[in-house]
Amino acid sequence: MKSISQYREAFQEYLDLKVQVKEPENLYEPMRYILSLGGKRLRPVLVLMSTEIFEADYKKALDAALAIEIFHNFSLVHDDIMDDAPLRRGKETVHERWDINTGILSGDAMLINAYQLFENYDGDTFKELARLFTKTAMQVCEGQQYDIDFETRDDVAIEDYLKMIEYKTAVLVGASLQMGAIVANTSTQCKEAVYEFGRLLGIAFQLQDDYLDAFGDPETFGKQPGGDIIENKKTFLYLKSLEASGKSEAQQLEHLYTINPAETSGKIEAVKTLFENSGAAALTQREIEKYTEKAFKVLDEIDISEEKKRPLRQFGEMLMNRTV
Ligand code: IPE
Ligand code: IPE
Ligand code: MG
Ligand code: MG
Ligand code: MG
Repeated sequence: MKSISQYREAFQEYLDLKVQVKEPENLYEPMRYILSLGGKRLRPVLVLMSTEIFEADYKKALDAALAIEIFHNFSLVHDDIMDDAPLRRGKETVHERWDINTGILSGDAMLINAYQLFENYDGDTFKELARLFTKTAMQVCEGQQYDIDFETRDDVAIEDYLKMIEYKTAVLVGASLQMGAIVANTSTQCKEAVYEFGRLLGIAFQLQDDYLDAFGDPETFGKQPGGDIIENKKTFLYLKSLEASGKSEAQQLEHLYTINPAETSGKIEAVKTLFENSGAAALTQREIEKYTEKAFKVLDEIDISEEKKRPLRQFGEMLMNRTV
């Protein structure tokens, strides 16, 4: 097995080879742009790692890994339009650099391109990969719709939030790992277990994303600081704050979440203070640990050697400690 950074390098090399700009440039250049801004490449690395954990050559999974990364980047381009986000990976978002129509259409092309890559697999493998991808991509859309619906709802429960992040984020992490298992043609039990590990890790991952959106270092995080607060996102931080605050603080927070736009009003700082004073910031950290622990418990049960589990555990720990 290779290290996480070796898988990342191997993947990057493949991406550079495969993603090329052709005519019409305004369709393909934004695609090359977003994919060249970097990003952590977590999902393709998971595809490749999983393939080798289940005893096949990672090279067989490069197209599936590329499909997942292109799909992820498509979802970011459209997400940034929906979230009105100016910054991605420390650079201008596609719709800022070009315009909204460009973001929509090059996003569409990326989604189609992702599907196309599965055509490189035969028979049962193709069918299984395509079926998993279709199911997952539809769930991501559902999660994204809930996310947007929640912005203007005032009756969102923690449970609703958890389902929303499971769909918009966690299922793709689970699917990445399961794709490796499918390419390696391992047992159904292993395919399901590794998906569940990824799903739980993915929930921890999105909780952390929400935390960093408010409290991360803008320099390293690469997105607009407080973007979720500006957009009135019903994150775990927000919902826990409401739950844990006294009446007056809760009302204050609810009021702040009616203010649009936010930049000039001091909204971000005021909301962050409420997140901290209510204990919600600390509770979010604990929830991240809780879901990571749950993921590790599932990993313990998978029928593979300790040696094979180690890189997955390392990966989970790396996610928990990330600042990017
Ligand atoms: C951002 O994903 C979108 C979420 C699901 C939180 P990443 O944090 O993996 O983004 P990149 O690819 O590393 O930029
Ligand atoms: C995005 O969630 C999930 C998807 C792109 C499907 P966020 O809106 O929190 O992602 P970021 O913070 O913009 O990366
Ligand atoms: Mg967003
Ligand atoms: Mg979003
Ligand atoms: Mg976010």
